[in-house]
Amino acid sequence: MSEKPRVLTGITTTGTPHLGNYVGAIRPAIAASQSAAIDSYFFMADYHALIKCQDPALVQQSAREIAATWLALGLDTDNSTFYRQSDVPEITELTWIITCVTAKGLMNRSHAYKAAVQTNEAESQDPDYGITMGLFGYPILMAADILAFNAHRVPVGRDQIQHIEMARDIGQRFNHLYGDTFVLPEADIDDDVAVLNGLDGRKMSKSYGNTIPLFLPEKKLQKMINKIKTNLLEPGEPKDPDDSTVFQIWKAFANKEQTDWMRQQFAEGIAWGQAKKELCALINTEIAAARDEYDRLLGDPGFVDQELKKGAEKARERAGRLLSEVKSAVGIPPLL
Ligand code: TRP
Repeated sequence: MSEKPRVLTGITTTGTPHLGNYVGAIRPAIAASQSAAIDSYFFMADYHALIKCQDPALVQQSAREIAATWLALGLDTDNSTFYRQSDVPEITELTWIITCVTAKGLMNRSHAYKAAVQTNEAESQDPDYGITMGLFGYPILMAADILAFNAHRVPVGRDQIQHIEMARDIGQRFNHLYGDTFVLPEADIDDDVAVLNGLDGRKMSKSYGNTIPLFLPEKKLQKMINKIKTNLLEPGEPKDPDDSTVFQIWKAFANKEQTDWMRQQFAEGIAWGQAKKELCALINTEIAAARDEYDRLLGDPGFVDQELKKGAEKARERAGRLLSEVKSAVGIPPLL
């Protein structure tokens, strides 16, 4: 029997999951976790979080919320491997080994690093101002995340493509120097998955402060949805669905019939307030049960930790085998 494809993705643990994360990443990943044809790995990139966030309470809170979110939504932790990056020391060991084959020039080209330098220059600061080695070497840690499991495919957003290419470069360099060891991963970009807009109509993103958190209590969810920017058209005036964030989010939760129905409502001039009510109800139907479970899990951290321990054990076992090979390849075999 041929090997199942290994599909791996990491979630940086800063911030609270929002509707955009859910539709773009979490929902498709949970579906993949339930598929017997795929060997999937999901992890919380808590060491990556330290690059952006040096508030311990926030780092911890965010990891809890994210783990509870994925579990509440039905992640199948028997059929997939779900863990915290920091619980798998093999990943950080591998990070050092591949750091030693990574050209500094490759890291100089990283978008995230270059953007930080540009911001400094624009503000007439020292180019290195506020830039840690963590930020500079971020793509190496990410390469280790992927290479440690010899993942074939990595579902990510477009902003992460460069990092996957760097992981390939690094893996290739290692293979060239030490013999075939790593699978070269491919970025998996799903063009059918919607990129949701946020309250202000720009892409929903924590950095724009325009997000709608996924698990708000229903009343708060409605209040948030009411803040979605709309035009000034009155009830009874026909509205353009394709120019509307309300409709765009509707589509991401609706089946074909519901989408057609709402399109019709727009043509007939549904009031914005009414459209927003319908939207809240639709989202609520999909997530209400998971939200209850989420609240329960936040009150039962022992259960969540148990799941994460189980995942870490599986992950360590697999990464450990590969790391032994890697260490032997570079001339650091186990002691006799
Ligand atoms: N850098 C990714 C992001 O910000 C998160 C991440 C860390 C990741 N390690 C990864 C994604 C490995 C895929 C594979 O979204």
